[in-house]
Amino acid sequence: MAGRFLSFEGIDGSGKSTQARLLAEALQGHGREVVLTREPGGSPGAEEIRRLVLEGATDRWSTETELLLFTAARRDHLEKTIRPALARGAVVICDRFADSTRIYQGLTRGDLRQTVDSLHALMIGAEPDLTFLIDIDAAEGLARATARPGKELRFEGMGLGLQEKARAGFLALAAASPARFRVIAGARPAEAVAADVLQQALARL
Ligand code: ADP
Ligand code: TYD
Repeated sequence: MAGRFLSFEGIDGSGKSTQARLLAEALQGHGREVVLTREPGGSPGAEEIRRLVLEGATDRWSTETELLLFTAARRDHLEKTIRPALARGAVVICDRFADSTRIYQGLTRGDLRQTVDSLHALMIGAEPDLTFLIDIDAAEGLARATARPGKELRFEGMGLGLQEKARAGFLALAAASPARFRVIAGARPAEAVAADVLQQALARL
């Protein structure tokens, strides 16, 4: 069985982590080996970089430095976790991947889209087979994200305007690559969202 690489994208609080977990459980129930992973992180080295990039003051890093850190984390994650799993035929489900860099470092936190694309071509060069964009109203996503406990708040201090810009950016990416993206309405009970995701995933697998 060939490995498959699936990613979840969307603004903070859209429900990506919840949906990634539900899809992993459902596909395991269908007898597939599933590797559920996330970015930034997903390998020991990349999880260390995650702490550097998500904790601390909002102005801790320049956008350029941040882009390099996210890309370093992604490269390690690909080498150590994603490629080995795909090579043995597993389904890799990744909570955020390169589309998040296109949006956050390329469009909302920075204006580095060309640099993001060049660095991706140089250092990553891989795309998911299928990407679920969990789409939700920016205010609703922000309310969910800020209600959630935790200390990884560096980016969630950024406010509604940037969430709205990120949502529009994700929808534009999806429109530009319709073969790879499935846009899923996220403002519904998690089980209803998960049913749509599973149907699309099974069709692709
Ligand atoms: P993300 O990974 O996109 O930031 P999460 O899956 O962590 O989103 O969900 C953010 C918060 O919203 C969590 O507290 C989660 O329990 C809650 N949540 C997730 N999906 C739904 C849903 N469909 N309806 C209501 N709340 C949800
Ligand atoms: P994540 O833990 O997925 O946050 P959430 O569950 O709230 O969606 O990601 C943390 C933050 O990292 C999020 O605000 C988006 C940001 N991010 C980037 O800016 N660039 C990237 O390449 C990635 C993967 C994430």
